[in-house]
Amino acid sequence: MGEGIDQKRINFLPAEKIKLEKLDCRGRILDIGGGGEGIISRVFGERVVAIDLSRGELQEAPANGALRIEMDARDLKFLDGEFPTATSFFSFMYMQPGDREKVFQEVFRVLEPGGEFFLWDIEIPPHPGGEKDVIAINLTVDLGSEEVKTGYGVYWPGNEQSLNGLMQEAKKAGFVVSTVEEQESAFFVQMEKK
Ligand SMILES: C[S@@+](CC[C@H](N)C(=O)[O-])C[C@H]1O[C@@H](n2cnc3c(N)ncnc32)[C@H](O)[C@@H]1O
Repeated sequence: MGEGIDQKRINFLPAEKIKLEKLDCRGRILDIGGGGEGIISRVFGERVVAIDLSRGELQEAPANGALRIEMDARDLKFLDGEFPTATSFFSFMYMQPGDREKVFQEVFRVLEPGGEFFLWDIEIPPHPGGEKDVIAINLTVDLGSEEVKTGYGVYWPGNEQSLNGLMQEAKKAGFVVSTVEEQESAFFVQMEKK
């Protein structure tokens, strides 16, 4: 991340390593914001339905057999209860803060009872002012078969999100949180539609 952006503008969070090789999830996977590096598609291939607002981001992502569809996570076009599993790999940070609650509601709706949602993301504290107006994280993602080095960054002012705030929105949508893992800058939350 950061090509073309003046590096002085970027506040880099401590880099993290994310391990995906042992993720235990069932059946067909709806990947929210599955463009970019297409990390979930790289691991789970044909099991994945990757949706993204941006056709360009989807085209950029290696398909690896995944079905890629241009779609808004605030208005999923799937029937209720169609997926046993949903994922969001560092996609909530790219959403408008006011949209995140709607996305939880939509993911909850399209999951089957007992379905699980796996979410990786970062905390974005309130912007403190100053010249650094982009917040970013560099990641090494261990897929088992390969390691992907990547970075994700977003415009910072007005875009704050916290683990607690996201969990509250998830619970409001009906989810029950089963696992929370916090690293220095990134977090992982596993939640269930009971
Ligand atoms: C850069 S990707 C995150 C990393 C990506 N999951 C990966 O595996 O590399 C975040 C994506 O979320 C998408 N996005 C943001 N808001 C969205 C929404 N409301 N519905 C669907 N996709 C959205 C953006 O277009 C962007 O491509």
